[in-house]
Amino acid sequence: MLLKFIALAWVLLLLGGCQDESNIYQPDNSSAKVLRSRLDTTLRGLIQQHGLSGDALQGRILPTIESPLAQLGMHLFFSKSLSGNRDVACASCHHPLLGGGDNLSLSIGVDAVDPNVLGHKRLLQGGLSLGVPRNAPTTFNIGLWQQFMFHDGRVAQLDTGITTPDVAYLQPDPLAGSNLVHAQARFPVTSNHEMRGKTFDVGGTAQSCRERLAERLGGYGAIPEERLPAEETDYWLDAFRKVYQQPQAQAAELITEQNIAAALAEYQRSQVFVNHAWKQYVQGELAAISEPAKRGALLFFRESEAGGYACASCHRGDFFTDELFRNVLMPPLGPGKGNMDTEVQQDYGRWLVTQNPDDKFRFRTPSLLNVAVTGPWGHNGAYTSLNAIVRHMLNPFQAALNYDSGQLKQPNIPTEQFAANLRDMLGSNTDMAGQAYQEEDVQYLVAFLHTLTDPCVTHVDCLQPWIPPVAGLPKSILQARF
Ligand code: HEC
Ligand code: HEC
Repeated sequence: MLLKFIALAWVLLLLGGCQDESNIYQPDNSSAKVLRSRLDTTLRGLIQQHGLSGDALQGRILPTIESPLAQLGMHLFFSKSLSGNRDVACASCHHPLLGGGDNLSLSIGVDAVDPNVLGHKRLLQGGLSLGVPRNAPTTFNIGLWQQFMFHDGRVAQLDTGITTPDVAYLQPDPLAGSNLVHAQARFPVTSNHEMRGKTFDVGGTAQSCRERLAERLGGYGAIPEERLPAEETDYWLDAFRKVYQQPQAQAAELITEQNIAAALAEYQRSQVFVNHAWKQYVQGELAAISEPAKRGALLFFRESEAGGYACASCHRGDFFTDELFRNVLMPPLGPGKGNMDTEVQQDYGRWLVTQNPDDKFRFRTPSLLNVAVTGPWGHNGAYTSLNAIVRHMLNPFQAALNYDSGQLKQPNIPTEQFAANLRDMLGSNTDMAGQAYQEEDVQYLVAFLHTLTDPCVTHVDCLQPWIPPVAGLPKSILQARF
């Protein structure tokens, strides 16, 4: 018996190939019916040191999808009537079955060949070039952000309120609403490439665009030829009256741009998917994650002096982000986002918001919850596999220099400016040195990242409550095909 035990320990040791984290199993004293290895003990120390509870919610109260306002928000989120040409819904780029995103490197909003087609088969009409410069972040767990919305944080929480692109930076926007998600929801409809199109409310402001859309939805005040079918405006009036429990109220009082944004926010904030295997592990279930994942966790949380890669210095806490902005040399792909230099189609990230030279190429540290289902990765979807993005995060300089655009699955991503943009970016101050790394560490880190996926987000049945049924809803509701 003893010999068998020693032999097993040796086999595990050899398989692991790592001396100091050897699997010399000791009987477990805790209630969990699993043997605790030295690896578990080391991880326990790191978990404590990083103050992790496993629970990203940390007592925060978020809406449930059953609440009437979230239900209304879901219908609005899936309605193409919130776009100028009635061809794009929020869900066109943030679909629950696509990890709360769109599976594209760079989103396609207006002018899609078939507006109901999502994912890799979604294409722009012939001859048009991509207009959305960034990757659609997931709406999953969106209610957990405390500071910033968007890759560049242009919607931000202040002590005095919430600032948005409608007001001067660091001024509170009086129309931002009560939370960051509400504040954000007012912007996609005003973007030409995302939802507005070129012909809706031409010459209007962002605010007039929102108001015209609300009027059209409610069938009041809008220009006659833009009216929705009466059966649709009746549907929305009925729905808003029920949710706000004001059966007599007029459309103009209820179907306002503010109430629309509030409902959209309630729906998105109900997308809480935080029950992943890593949480169970942190909370004591030692068998919840695999041995390679544990090794990955060690590499993720350990400082470099201790043989780790200190990923948690930025991907901090149970939500795996410090909500700060960093230049990690993401390959500068795509049309770029408008900036003052008209020569280069470049995306200067946080700098576009603050104009602080140090902020050039900085982007918000993403959360890593459910990261396995939110690809492509990076603010412009430059990487199309978890392996590749992890390699980048291990050694950004080397990865950016050797970037292979052959991995892109989406056609027509502009790369003419790439070489010039890359030179520009590599000449900037990076916030991450990077290091040489062991090849097997990539696999360990990827195994660890997989433990951050809530199983619900990979099961159609589990996600069904966040997808509206077909029956009884207006025709404008997106009938997605993938
Ligand atoms: C054409 C695709 C597209 C459509 C349509 C669209 N979005 Fe987005 N969404 C994006 C992209 C791309 C970003 C990132 C933009 C940036 O950071 O500059 C984004 C960002 C967001 C964010 C911020 C996420 C974060 O982590 O900070 C939220 C929330 C969001 N969108 C919700 C919505 C809502 C609500 C609607 C409908 C009113 C909508 N989106 C419509 C593509 C789209
Ligand atoms: C210096 C801070 C910092 C460190 C350290 C860091 N990251 Fe990141 N990480 C970021 C930022 C910022 C981004 C987004 C960059 C962008 O899109 O331009 C990012 C993006 C990612 C993404 C893509 C997420 C998505 O949704 O697109 C993954 C995966 C990731 N990091 C994993 C890691 C791993 C694994 C490590 C350790 C090897 C690590 N990171 C270390 C700041 C950091």
